[in-house]
Amino acid sequence: MGQEADLEKLALESKVVAAGRPSKQPDGALNPPIALNSTFHEGGPVGYGRYGNETWSALEQAISILEGGKTLLFSSGMAAISAVYSLLPEGAVVVAANNGYQGTTTLLKKLHESEKLKVRFVNLANTDETIAAIAGAQLLYLESPINPLLEIVDLPKVIKAGKAAGCGVAVDNTLATPLIQNPLNLGADIVIHSVTKYLSGHSDLILGSLSTNDAALYARLEQARRYGGAIAGPFEAWIALRGLRTFSLRMEKSQQNALELAKRLLADKRVSKVRYPGLPTDPYHGLAKSFMKGFGAMISFDVNASIDQVDLMCDSSKLITNATSLGGVESIWERRRKWATESVTVPENLIRFSVGIENVDDLWADIEFAFAAAKIK
Ligand SMILES: Cc1ncc(COP(=O)(O)O)c(C=O)c1O
Repeated sequence: MGQEADLEKLALESKVVAAGRPSKQPDGALNPPIALNSTFHEGGPVGYGRYGNETWSALEQAISILEGGKTLLFSSGMAAISAVYSLLPEGAVVVAANNGYQGTTTLLKKLHESEKLKVRFVNLANTDETIAAIAGAQLLYLESPINPLLEIVDLPKVIKAGKAAGCGVAVDNTLATPLIQNPLNLGADIVIHSVTKYLSGHSDLILGSLSTNDAALYARLEQARRYGGAIAGPFEAWIALRGLRTFSLRMEKSQQNALELAKRLLADKRVSKVRYPGLPTDPYHGLAKSFMKGFGAMISFDVNASIDQVDLMCDSSKLITNATSLGGVESIWERRRKWATESVTVPENLIRFSVGIENVDDLWADIEFAFAAAKIK
């Protein structure tokens, strides 16, 4: 495309619009094609549809512009995460969250129980505990904010400690997004996204990505994708790139809504705790401000009510959808402990709320309606 040098200098909201475009030529298309081919003529650099195609390349280039490094697209966030773990030798030591995203934690528990890996499960929000666990580890696997308690990991400090100990460091940046933090710039080796969420943003596809600055690591991850076979569909990649064009607008609006709703929930006696790093009262506010450029659009809050009432509340809203997932234009919430695999450190009465781009007063009216429907006073 020959534009990367210029793109590097642009602000993020320009990058998301300009990145991943075909090169300029008379009557050339502005957008990449949906490359529906398994098979290519002999002699080119790609070779076969499981190894690459133009639509993946466009989206990979766009994510690379946002996160830095070079990106590989996968069929899901979990496929990307699994590819990272597939690189480790049998019995390798991993340091990871004891209460992180339940998909990752469940995968790690299984790998640990079957003795494929030795996982040291720690509270990543406790910097001393995390750093103390690093000695002898091959991979430090981080996520911040931690899903769903929205605690903040001291990424600059913990990544530095991991690298100083010669440990690989991977960061799941799904919740924060590159609008807020760039783990590769902090020294991480790999950044992971569930592209399903904020980057694509419309709750209409499942994709994942890995980005890295390390050419040798990129080559190993590419081999893991090539032979693991967890590849993206070109149509999903194309839709995700279209969604990415409005990523910064969506994220800004969702964040604004989240801060306003977090303040209203904090002032509400029906709520016993609000977890949102953007609130000055949040225990992680100072840390978040020290290295993040925003606070994200996820709120978790504990409701002063029984489990049945919280379930009823989630199911009674009309604008906010009771569903699992996050990062779409649509507001979504759910009682997280309804999932058997969720960490027991997550309170039963906690609602995880992915705040969308709707009108904030409409969202608040819907929350009020849901409280009333569940007879929460
Ligand atoms: C933080 C985080 N990482 C990874 C994933 C997995 O992504 P996917 O559903 O695209 O496989 C999720 C999904 O919810 C997530 O929230």
